[in-house]
Amino acid sequence: MPAVRLRTRDFILPYFVVGGKDKKEVIKNFPGVFRFSFDRLIKEADACLKLGLDKILLFGVPEKKDDLGSAAYEENSIVAQAVREVKKEFPCMVVMTDVCLCAYTTHGHCGVLKPGLDCRIDSRRTLDALTKMAVRHAEAGADWVAPSAMAKKQVAAIRAALDKNGFKKTKILGYSAKFASNFYGPFRQAADSAPAFGDRSGYQLDCGDTKAALNEIGADIKEGADMAMVKPALSYLDIVRLAKQKFGFPLAAYNVSGEYAFVKYGAKTGLWDEKKMVFEVLTSIKRAGADWIITYHAKDVARS
Ligand code: PBG
Repeated sequence: MPAVRLRTRDFILPYFVVGGKDKKEVIKNFPGVFRFSFDRLIKEADACLKLGLDKILLFGVPEKKDDLGSAAYEENSIVAQAVREVKKEFPCMVVMTDVCLCAYTTHGHCGVLKPGLDCRIDSRRTLDALTKMAVRHAEAGADWVAPSAMAKKQVAAIRAALDKNGFKKTKILGYSAKFASNFYGPFRQAADSAPAFGDRSGYQLDCGDTKAALNEIGADIKEGADMAMVKPALSYLDIVRLAKQKFGFPLAAYNVSGEYAFVKYGAKTGLWDEKKMVFEVLTSIKRAGADWIITYHAKDVARS
């Protein structure tokens, strides 16, 4: 077996997008990651392409939230605008969008909730919202939509809605095996998306459950995903390997915000060399079987 090599083209760099102009907001406990307004995002996209990074994943951070997450699927949603701007300037950039309600709902859960405080997802209304959101992104020119709400049958519903609206070519990256993890801390600050009550264990996977993870991946493939994902990456590399062996299907792994923060803070304290650590971490993800890696380190690696 040949040794694994990292390639810049295998990385996807996440971005948080806010409204307004000339904004580059610092995010507490998320060193080196910012919230950008559209104009600044264009400059970022330009810098990425110059480094050979041609894939970005956009997360919207809206100004207003409500119980239904309606800012996620309104006509000119923050992400739709961002996609339009980037694609207009750089048609060759592969633009991917996160499709989930947690940053848009007042309660911070990933779907529309049934009444009550026990965080049960209203499946019909959630799928309705997610499909509208995906179609909005596709209309704006997104190449890929990435549903991450862990709503049952979300991939099938989104595929059908995209096809019906004439977006047969828009691809779907399913966040198939998404675990209820402690590694999402910095992200939740970035997107202001921590649940206001309860947790996500009702719809995200239990950390010890390999079978459920493989079932979810199998289901997304059947429902029409073009690529599946395991998230987080590092504590779940066995799942990445098993999924690759079992399905032989294109697979991404998300080197999430908490994993990134470990490396950054350790390097800041002098515990290790950041560059070498990043290289080792990303190589291990690739070695486990990930084709693409979503990582906040992407620009740093591409630069070195
Ligand atoms: C939203 C979503 C989350 C991440 C990506 N999409 C967080 C969550 O489930 O709370 C986390 C990514 C990261 O930590 O970098 N559903």
